[in-house]
Amino acid sequence: MTTATAPSGLPSALLARARAAARPQVTGIVTGAMGLTLTVEGVVAAVGDLVEIDPGTRPLLAEVVAVGNGRLTCMPLGTLSGVVAGAPVRATGLPLQVPVGEALLGRVLDGLGRPVDGGPPLAARVSWVDLASETPHALARTRVQEPLTFGVRALDTLVPCGKGQRLGIFAGSGVGKSSLLAQITRGTDADVRVIGLIGERGREVREFIEENLGPEGMARTVVVVATSDEPPLVRLKAAFVATRIAEAFRDQGRDVLLLMDSITRTAMAQREVGLSAGEPPATRGYPPSVFAMMPQLLEKAGTGATGSITGLYTVLVEGDDHNEPIADTARSILDGHIVLTRKLATVGHFPAIDVLESISRVATAVVPPPLMADAREIRRLMGALRDVKELIEIGAYQAGSDPLVDRARELAPQIEAFLQQSMGESTPAPEAWAWLQRIVRA
Ligand SMILES: Nc1ncnc2c1ncn2[C@@H]1O[C@H](COP(=O)(O)OP(=O)(O)OP(=O)(O)O)[C@@H](O)[C@H]1O
Ligand SMILES: [Mg+2]
Repeated sequence: MTTATAPSGLPSALLARARAAARPQVTGIVTGAMGLTLTVEGVVAAVGDLVEIDPGTRPLLAEVVAVGNGRLTCMPLGTLSGVVAGAPVRATGLPLQVPVGEALLGRVLDGLGRPVDGGPPLAARVSWVDLASETPHALARTRVQEPLTFGVRALDTLVPCGKGQRLGIFAGSGVGKSSLLAQITRGTDADVRVIGLIGERGREVREFIEENLGPEGMARTVVVVATSDEPPLVRLKAAFVATRIAEAFRDQGRDVLLLMDSITRTAMAQREVGLSAGEPPATRGYPPSVFAMMPQLLEKAGTGATGSITGLYTVLVEGDDHNEPIADTARSILDGHIVLTRKLATVGHFPAIDVLESISRVATAVVPPPLMADAREIRRLMGALRDVKELIEIGAYQAGSDPLVDRARELAPQIEAFLQQSMGESTPAPEAWAWLQRIVRA
C-alpha cells in the first residue's frame, strides 16, 4: 500500500496532524450531560475525534459521536461524575491513538492503551496509530494452511487450529473458558500473544497475569484490560485496541494469537452504548449496532498479505442456551467452535471440551491425511459410544452386538486419559499425535 504524500514530501496524514497541533486552541464548554452522552458547544471536531474535558480534577476524554448545529454529541471514555455544565472542552484534533510495537511485549494496558502495570512510560518507545484500521481485502489474504498448536491434546488433534483461523470457545458460566484460554496462552507456539480481557472481574485479571502467565509467559504477551466496572465505551474500545495491537504485529509478518475474553461482554458494552445513543432494542434487548459491530471486530483477525492473527474468542452462552443471539452471530462469523459442557465439568473432566460438538473448519487444510484418518477414527469410536450410552447405562446393551461399540468401550479409559489434561500440563503437538496413534492403532 502507498502512503499519500503532500507536495512538501511529508505524508499528508502527518501534515494534517501537524496543522491540527499548530492551530490556535479553541476552548468550548460542556452544555449538558445525560446518560452516557455529553453535549459540547464552541469547538469544532470531526466524528470519531477526541475532545478533552477539564472538570477541574482529572481531564476526561470523550469521543465525538455526532455533530450538528454548532453542537457536538460526545461519549465519555471515563466516568462523568464531577462534570458540570460550563466545564471547558478542548479539541485534540485526533481520533484515539493506539500504541503499537515491540516495546509493548510484557506490558499490561488499560482499555485505551495506557499502561497500568507501573512500568516505564511508552511515549517514544512505540509508534502511535489510529484505532481505525483497514481490514485486509478478502483476496489479499493468504489461505489458512499451517497449523498453530495450543499444547492442549484434545484441541491440537481433534479440533486443530490453523494460523489465521478464528475460533469461538462456547460455554455457560463457570465451565472453564478462562482457564482454557490461560492453558492455551501458556502452551501455544505463536510468536506473539495479545490478550483482551473485556468486562471480566477485576479479581481474575491479576490471577490470570500472575498465576497463569508468569514472568516468562508475559515476555511474549501484551495484555489489554477493561474490567466490568469501566464505562461501556472503554470496554468496547478495549476489544478494538487489543485487535489493533495484534494487527500491527501481523503487518510485520508475525504470527499472532489474539485471545479475547469475552466477545459476549464486548457485545454487552456495545448494547449499553447503542441503547444510550437512542437505538431501539431489537433481538433480546440487543440493538442493531451490536450485530454490525461483531463482524467488524472479528473480521479484523485472520491472515493478511504477510503474517496472521489467529483469533480465539470466548462466548458466554447464557443459561447454556447455545442459540442465544450473540452466540448465534459469533458462530456464523467464526471458522470453527470449541464447545465446553457443564456435564463434563461437573464430573471433573477438564478441559470440559465436548469433542463431538466442536469443529474446526480448517482441519483438513492443516493436518496431513494419515493423521486426519486417526483423528476421524477416535471421533467415530466416541460417536459410537455416545449413541449407545443410555443402553449401556440401563444394562440393555449386549456385548458382541456391535464390534465398533465393543472396541470403543474397551478403549474408552484410554481416550478419557488422552482428553483430560490438568491446567499446568502442556503437551507438544507431535507427542499428542503419537499418543493418539497408540490408542487407535493398538
Ligand atoms: N483444566 C481445569 N482443571 C481443573 N479445574 C478447572 C479447569 N478448568 C476449569 N476448572 C474449574 O472451573 C472453574 C471455573 O473456570 P473458569 O473461571 O475458567 O470458567 P469460565 O467459563 O471462564 O467462567 P465465567 O463464565 O464465570 O467467566 C475454575 O475455578 C476451576 O475450579
Ligand atoms: Mg471467565
